[in-house]
Amino acid sequence: MQTILIANPKGGAGKSTLATNLATYFAWKGHKAALGDLDRQQSAAHWLSLRSHNFPPIGHWDCDEELPTKLPKGYERAVIDTPAGLRGKKLEAMLKLSDHILVPVQPSSFDMWASQDFFARLAEEKRIRKGKVNVGVVGMRVKANTRASKQLADFLAQFELPVLSCLRDTQYYLQTLPRGMGIFDLPAPRLVRDLEQWQPILEWLET
Ligand SMILES: Nc1ncnc2c1ncn2[C@@H]1O[C@H](COP(=O)(O)OP(=O)(O)O)[C@@H](O)[C@H]1O
Ligand SMILES: [Mg+2]
Repeated sequence: MQTILIANPKGGAGKSTLATNLATYFAWKGHKAALGDLDRQQSAAHWLSLRSHNFPPIGHWDCDEELPTKLPKGYERAVIDTPAGLRGKKLEAMLKLSDHILVPVQPSSFDMWASQDFFARLAEEKRIRKGKVNVGVVGMRVKANTRASKQLADFLAQFELPVLSCLRDTQYYLQTLPRGMGIFDLPAPRLVRDLEQWQPILEWLET
């Protein structure tokens, strides 16, 4: 079982987008995939409830929002969406269950300031220091060749963390939501650029 925690201190950073799309990818890959949602808003859980049976299934990990201590049984991949600002005991507890943590960061100063603190906090976590949990950063809604994208790259370069990829801002992430779909459910020819952008994230998770 491989468990991927999606976390970031900021709301609207792209956590649920990453979580739901990653779960969709695993489902298409033929892995038994579960999606857990620790956010009270339950956006990812609601998204999952809308998913058609015609698409590869994703299980709902109905985890204890307060403090899950066990992974769901019978799955090969678990993706955990979290509320903004996961910290303290809850972050520690979630790291105990996880192998990877993906941190989405948008090219906005608000997001970068908030993430700075979070990266410092992650660096102090025992399981991360021991290499039991791998941290990867994903630029979110990045418009290539803009001043903002350069600022994000410069900002992220300060940390000793792999920046796995930058996902562009595209309507595909929005259009798929109301039907419980992710971009991996769409016909591949429409998504060449997006699939290319996901590739390094997926490779990082597979190794
Ligand atoms: N790469 C992207 N392209 C377009 N829209 C995006 C992208 N990433 C996120 N969004 C949109 O931004 C909003 C916030 O993203 P969300 O995943 O809900 O953030 P969080 O879960 O961190 O609060 C959502 O409306 C989502 O559809
Ligand atoms: Mg969310």
